[in-house]
Amino acid sequence: MMANYKELVQQALRAREKAYVPYSKFAVGVALLCEDGTVYEGCNIENAAFPATNCAERTAIFKAVSEGRRDFQAIAVVGGPEGTAPADFCPPCGVCRQVMREFCGPDFIIALSDGKEVKTYTLEELLPCSFGPENL
Ligand code: THU
Repeated sequence: MMANYKELVQQALRAREKAYVPYSKFAVGVALLCEDGTVYEGCNIENAAFPATNCAERTAIFKAVSEGRRDFQAIAVVGGPEGTAPADFCPPCGVCRQVMREFCGPDFIIALSDGKEVKTYTLEELLPCSFGPENL
């Protein structure tokens, strides 16, 4: 299914329209694909107290986990200045990579798009030698 993740990227672009980014004006959207094909969308949600901001990736993951889902196969991420189409890749921040590590396996796919091409990585590639649930 959707081997090049183009459809998932389109969903991430739609999710990005909901981003609440009055401070950074950097809008991020994601689409999180479950094993059965269900997709959870997420956007970044900023806060006047800056550290209370939630990244788009964690918005989608927390939405899904709170609905009982833990069976994730891929996430598409797009981001860039609000009001303009993404023109660069937007890799997930370290905190979001660690949250992925909690619920996703090493082969979980992270698909990034700059609006032209889609680059895919595994979670193992983006977070090597990581600390996870089995280390406790
Ligand atoms: N942000 C995300 O939502 N995901 C990322 O992968 C990188 C950064 C958000 C956080 C903040 O609202 C804005 O982008 C600028 O850092």
